[in-house]
Amino acid sequence: MDRPSERIARLGRLTLVGILLVTATACRQDMHDQPRYEPLELSAFFANGMASRPPIEGTIARGQLREDNALYLGKDANDAFLTALPMPVDRPLLERGQQRFDIFCSPCHGRLGDGQGMVVQRGFKKPPSYHTDPLLSQPVGYYYDVMTNGFGVMSSYASQISVEDRWAIAAYIRALQLSQAAPSAGFDSADRQALPSGATEPTAGGATEPPPKEADDADSGGH
Ligand code: HEC
Repeated sequence: MDRPSERIARLGRLTLVGILLVTATACRQDMHDQPRYEPLELSAFFANGMASRPPIEGTIARGQLREDNALYLGKDANDAFLTALPMPVDRPLLERGQQRFDIFCSPCHGRLGDGQGMVVQRGFKKPPSYHTDPLLSQPVGYYYDVMTNGFGVMSSYASQISVEDRWAIAAYIRALQLSQAAPSAGFDSADRQALPSGATEPTAGGATEPPPKEADDADSGGH
């Protein structure tokens, strides 16, 4: 059996815990709404009423300084379009370019770049073929530029295709162009056998091959 004085003491302890809990909650409330500005909150302090200060004009975020005009604009020091890619061209780059081209460009330009894509067959303006002049003789930097800034009714792809991928596509377009006008001297006899006799039509698979490599330095080491 508890004595009355013990009971009172227990009641007192309980009340104390209760008070502590209430004060603790009040504290939490305070931390929820701290005396600082939320992003884009109204402010009476600044003349334009905005708490968020706009960055100073010309501010560039870390890692976003695009100084390399060749890579980002496709242009050389004289503001002329690059005639060669600003990165080494290898098979993975061309395969990446093929994949991106088939996704982003072939719906209009066709998988051969002849301008006969499905969207065109359904009524969209037909783009020029990559295999005739003046496009054939445009420098590779021009293709990068068209993807970056758009051309006529064709919109820009800068927000959808990364800088590196735009170059990969440009390289693949060069491979496509070569595939449609490949000099037969570059074929070995097995390849020539595989060609349909007298055909000038593009052969299956021809478009997926990268351009033949320039003859490298001869291996002087012997075997
Ligand atoms: C929605 C259809 C469409 C898509 C997708 C498209 N294009 Fe085009 N493209 C066009 C049309 C149409 C033109 C012709 C624009 C004009 O003359 O107004 C064109 C023109 C071009 C030209 C020629 C510019 C010139 O000098 O005549 C190039 C190069 C080109 N596109 C590249 C690409 C590449 C690379 C892609 C993929 C990243 C792509 N396009 C995706 C419709 C498209």
